[in-house]
Amino acid sequence: MNNATKILVVDDDDSGREALTLLLSSEGYDVSSAATGQNALDMIKKHQYQVVVSDLFLPDISGLDILQYVQKKSHLSEVIVVTGHASAQTAVRAMKDGAFDYITKPIDFDELKIVVVKALEKQKLLTENIYLRKQLQGRFEFSNIIGSSPAMNLVFERMRRIVKTESAVLITGESGTGKELVAKALHYNGSRKERSFVAVNCSAIPDALLESELFGHVRGAFTGAIKDKPGKFETANHGTIFLDEIGTIPLHLQSKLLRVLQEQEIERIGSNKPVRLNVRIISATNANLEYMVQQGEFREDLYYRLNVIPLHLPPLRERQQDIIFLSTYFVKKQCHLMARPVCAISKQALEFLEQYSWPGNVRELENLIERMVVLTDADIITIDDVPSKIRDHKLTVKRTAINMSREGLDLVETVSEIERTLISQALQSAGGVKAKAAALLGINRTTLVEKIKRLKL
Ligand SMILES: Nc1ncnc2c1ncn2[C@@H]1O[C@H](COP(=O)(O)OP(=O)(O)OP(=O)(O)O)[C@@H](O)[C@H]1O
Ligand SMILES: [Mg+2]
Repeated sequence: MNNATKILVVDDDDSGREALTLLLSSEGYDVSSAATGQNALDMIKKHQYQVVVSDLFLPDISGLDILQYVQKKSHLSEVIVVTGHASAQTAVRAMKDGAFDYITKPIDFDELKIVVVKALEKQKLLTENIYLRKQLQGRFEFSNIIGSSPAMNLVFERMRRIVKTESAVLITGESGTGKELVAKALHYNGSRKERSFVAVNCSAIPDALLESELFGHVRGAFTGAIKDKPGKFETANHGTIFLDEIGTIPLHLQSKLLRVLQEQEIERIGSNKPVRLNVRIISATNANLEYMVQQGEFREDLYYRLNVIPLHLPPLRERQQDIIFLSTYFVKKQCHLMARPVCAISKQALEFLEQYSWPGNVRELENLIERMVVLTDADIITIDDVPSKIRDHKLTVKRTAINMSREGLDLVETVSEIERTLISQALQSAGGVKAKAAALLGINRTTLVEKIKRLKL
């Protein structure tokens, strides 16, 4: 047993008190005892007992008062009350007031031992929960979002303003740029941090289920609705709802969502009882919602409701200088996770990572670092660990660097080579979407298509 576990036994009956003290001490607990209620209160004031075992009837103060006092002082103490047969009612009262359990006299020592262990288990869970919560809060501080590029500084500046408001935020950015990370940071650094952060990935839930997932339903509302179920909006009440991939929600649900946001009220499917809502809305998308609005695929009015404060996360290729910081951060993180001692990444390896275009953005970088750390036995990651795809990328860039030599050069061929490299990089970043690649290169799509043909890409 844990020696540090402190237990207080309160009983005016000398032999009962001594027997309990002896029994619990023999289990390895650090046991103190008090013969009067007042004495017990004085001791509780000075020390932190994890468990108080108290008789309900004491000459001066009632066990219920002790219970009340303990509860006021700390939620990390449990009270077990001891009662005679005749006082079942008071025992029930004690339970209602928050006693952990009650034991009737004559005391069955084995039963008492079990109840004490259970009380300690409950506390352990509570302490762990508090610890986890603290950790979670810590985890999403801005300090864990790495970036010192001008582009990221603008993001931080805007985030600092956003956490002071309640307005709807729309986070945009390519895949893997940190939209969810930023959404959590906004919640856990804002005034609602003690309340829940509920994330809904709208693209991962089939259309038919999304409505009930968001708004909930009552029993019998549709086939398969076997019991009442609150939706994510209700779960997030007083906290934040994170509507991820908002661009994928179907038009009919867009209207319903708009109504909910306008009226700040929700009705579960099949019910006509409205529930008041007070939810902060953060949504995210990697789609071009403005374009979708033009195409009639996204409601304009909903777009404006969601996009009160826009927050754009730049792709990694627009903040190359963050790559070094992110890489060293992920190397440290991964080594820590794997309980590996010193772990570093060489300067040359970093140079290769810096030059790459990272179509999958920070997620791709993080995954690669994880893989490199796992696959090496050495305590430093070198160029040999960098996959050839990334090394070759840097070589192509170098080869096409403009360099007029004495012997002269073939201008047309050199320019074509540069075009070839840049176009394939743009296509890679755009995930093969020609219109997007053309936009990245500042040319129109037809020109790009012609070039691809001419350069035999
Ligand atoms: N600036 C950053 N600092 C540290 N870690 C980051 C940063 N940006 C992203 N990450 C990490 O990269 C991974 C991807 O981030 P996240 O899931 O937030 O991206 P996303 O934009 O939501 O991507 P998707 O559009 O694919 O859902 C996560 O593991 C996240 O912790
Ligand atoms: Mg995401």
